[in-house]
Amino acid sequence: MESADLAACGVLLAERHRRHRMAEPLLSTRFCAVDAALRELTAAFETTDASGAVALRDGAPVGFVLGSPKSSPVWGPNIWVEAAGQAVTDAEVMRDLYAAAATRWVGEGRTAHYVLVPAYDADLVRAWFRLGFGQQQAHAIRPAVRTRARTDDVAGLSVRRAVRADVPALAALDIELPRQHGSSPTFSPGVLSTVEENVAEWEESIADTGFATFVAESDGRVVGSAIGCALEKSSTHLSLARPDDAGFLGFAAVLPQAHGRGVGRALGEAVIDWAVDSGFDSVVTDWRVTNLLASRAWPALGFTESFLRLHRTVAT
Ligand SMILES: CC(C)(COP(=O)(O)OP(=O)(O)OC[C@H]1O[C@@H](n2cnc3c(N)ncnc32)[C@H](O)[C@@H]1OP(=O)(O)O)[C@@H](O)C(=O)NCCC(=O)NCCS
Repeated sequence: MESADLAACGVLLAERHRRHRMAEPLLSTRFCAVDAALRELTAAFETTDASGAVALRDGAPVGFVLGSPKSSPVWGPNIWVEAAGQAVTDAEVMRDLYAAAATRWVGEGRTAHYVLVPAYDADLVRAWFRLGFGQQQAHAIRPAVRTRARTDDVAGLSVRRAVRADVPALAALDIELPRQHGSSPTFSPGVLSTVEENVAEWEESIADTGFATFVAESDGRVVGSAIGCALEKSSTHLSLARPDDAGFLGFAAVLPQAHGRGVGRALGEAVIDWAVDSGFDSVVTDWRVTNLLASRAWPALGFTESFLRLHRTVAT
């Protein structure tokens, strides 16, 4: 892919986003405009070590794929095709594009491939599946409309904003997500912190008004927590995957002994209602699809997939 290709590929990207918005109207209208889509594509193109491929039919571009590496070691020797990194007029073309681009990626030793695919395009998802990819992560969205806030449904349960005295309980709950991710079938704990480190971090951040932290109490004991914030505070959900005026359900955890009793729902609903009160139009979250707990809880709260992160590791 060369800089001379960008203008035509920007048109393809804007058209992809226009179709995506027809399926998911909460996505930003901005990127339906070719100049806005082109800006995102150009930024992706100018990322360090970006490379990709363009498909031409009768001399006219009919698709592109563009990826670049992330420096964090957690992803392995990687290439990421982010939200502005692909568009095709015909899904099958993506298989030729990947074949061309991946020759260089694997040649450079970048064997862990991640790709963010618009969830609405079943043909495109299937084309990636037939390139050996599987789903790793779901990015999801729902309207910011008030919930029924069903804490009353669960005997002895209440949800309230966290206070400084909750720091030890919050620090303990922070361990639950990596613990869940470290177990089968996710097998992906990420970077583990200790409860002591979490306490120190919470002592600093508990007063940060940019984050709305909730705790769930069952019979007077904290059994779960959840955090809401503006999506701008997230380092993910970028570019075409960033809706305007969105709140973010950034974290939730419930102690294992309290799972499956409606605590997660009550916490998720508290964050959604906070987003409504804060004037956001939508609420965004994401989860590992192999996290059986999260991948069942968040769709039950009305989140629908907007982008799928697919992953493949090439064994060389
Ligand atoms: C994810 C988590 C916060 C959910 O909390 P929870 O208290 O277990 O969830 P709830 O009991 O409130 O259930 C939430 C919804 O998921 C549904 N659900 C739960 N298990 C289900 C299953 N096996 N099949 C289908 N639906 C299921 C529930 O029915 C409920 O929907 P409903 O109210 O419409 O019936 C909790 O399991 C947890 O802490 N997991 C470990 C950390 C984690 O994964 N955090 C999320 C990171 S993205």
